[in-house]
Amino acid sequence: MDMFVIEGGARLRGQVSISGSKNAALPIMAACLLTEEECILEHVPDLADVRHLMDLLSTLGAKVWRDEAQSLHIKVEDASCCLADYESVRRMRASICVLGPLLARRGRAEVSMPGGCAIGDRPVNLHLRGMEALGATLSLEGGNIRAHADRLHGGDIFMGGPFGSTVLGTANIMTAATLAKGRTVIEAAACEPEIVDLGDFLNSLGARISGHGSPRIVVEGVESLHGGRYQVLPDRIEAGTFMVAAAITNGELDLVNCRTEHLMAVVDRLASIGVNVEPVDGMVRVSSARRLRPVDVTTQPYPGFPTDLQAQLMTLLCLADGNSIITEKIFPDRFMHTAELGRMGARLRKEGPTVVVQGVSELIGAPVMASDLRASAALVLAGMVGQGTTEVRRVYHIDRGYERIEAKLNAVGAKIERVTE
Ligand code: EPU
Repeated sequence: MDMFVIEGGARLRGQVSISGSKNAALPIMAACLLTEEECILEHVPDLADVRHLMDLLSTLGAKVWRDEAQSLHIKVEDASCCLADYESVRRMRASICVLGPLLARRGRAEVSMPGGCAIGDRPVNLHLRGMEALGATLSLEGGNIRAHADRLHGGDIFMGGPFGSTVLGTANIMTAATLAKGRTVIEAAACEPEIVDLGDFLNSLGARISGHGSPRIVVEGVESLHGGRYQVLPDRIEAGTFMVAAAITNGELDLVNCRTEHLMAVVDRLASIGVNVEPVDGMVRVSSARRLRPVDVTTQPYPGFPTDLQAQLMTLLCLADGNSIITEKIFPDRFMHTAELGRMGARLRKEGPTVVVQGVSELIGAPVMASDLRASAALVLAGMVGQGTTEVRRVYHIDRGYERIEAKLNAVGAKIERVTE
């Protein structure tokens, strides 16, 4: 197992190129199961989660490979297998993305029911309710969701849950509805940029989707989709993480391939903290005032502040001049990083879905344990500013969602070594 050994104190300076979005790429890759023609995807990041989905698509009969330009080719050659087994879903919950495409194109799907994970319960009831509204018959057998439908039909589906809409649920239903007979209306749909990207991708293959990016998506079913070439949008969470990296090290980074229009809530909170984010020569320059002001932050569905940047922002606020309040409204238990940050001298008090962050003058390097993807990023950020040496264990979590993070950070001045324990 790898760990990062981080020497704190470096100021980051230079250019960082933002990779394609993991959370856009995964449902787009799964949607390639809807056609037998070849799909070519550009800017798909090289990550553990992407490699995992490449393996799963192969077991589902697709030929999947990267060319010299790193574009990802996906072409279905054998449509007989419809199973995403326990091992696959256990390794990556987003494997649930194949449910909609399999059901729509092959008439049946068997996908292991995802369990809980480090960030909370994460049910999939809304995905299943949506599939039923499209005419699928579902049952649970041996821990697997078994679904079949000779041909899906359009339906009216409400995707709102107790914590807002569901991103992958919206993706699953929107994808399935492209080949359903008739019109589907998805109300309370997720509005995340990754859903817009998926809808644009599907339309580029011949789907008839409108309203994606708003809470009401309308899908007019078509008979078939063709292949095509598509470029995945830049990763807003990676960009936000590098923004915090610039701010926390009191450095200055120019982000290439960064779309600030997808990060309005983040830029707003950073501005209140005292971090400047400005366009410069087609890039986004992030620099910070030496003093960081405390702020209150509540995570919300898009366009609100993303839960996937909550942990990283918490690390930054640990060093602000005063008390901040962070409230998690998407995954109320997503606070595994607080105890580890506490080992580095952070003063954090958790009360239900809220953490009070009492700013301290410094963090101190320590051995810490990553618990999930974004929590690991928060610990790496803490390590870069902590006095002395920080060891972040279990970095396989970070490898799931950040492309070569230590290489990118080291190229702008960080001191991070990957060590195999
Ligand atoms: N929910 C339900 N029922 C459902 C589905 C979700 O109650 O059927 C609840 C969840 O428990 C949660 C809320 O709805 O409280 C939102 O969950 P959502 O379904 O939107 O999460 P997801 O689609 O499984 C994606 C991202 C996550 C990101 C969330 C929220 C991917 C592969 N994953 O998950 O990304 O945190 O949306 O924005 O797109 C990450 O990248 O680190 C990550 C965890």
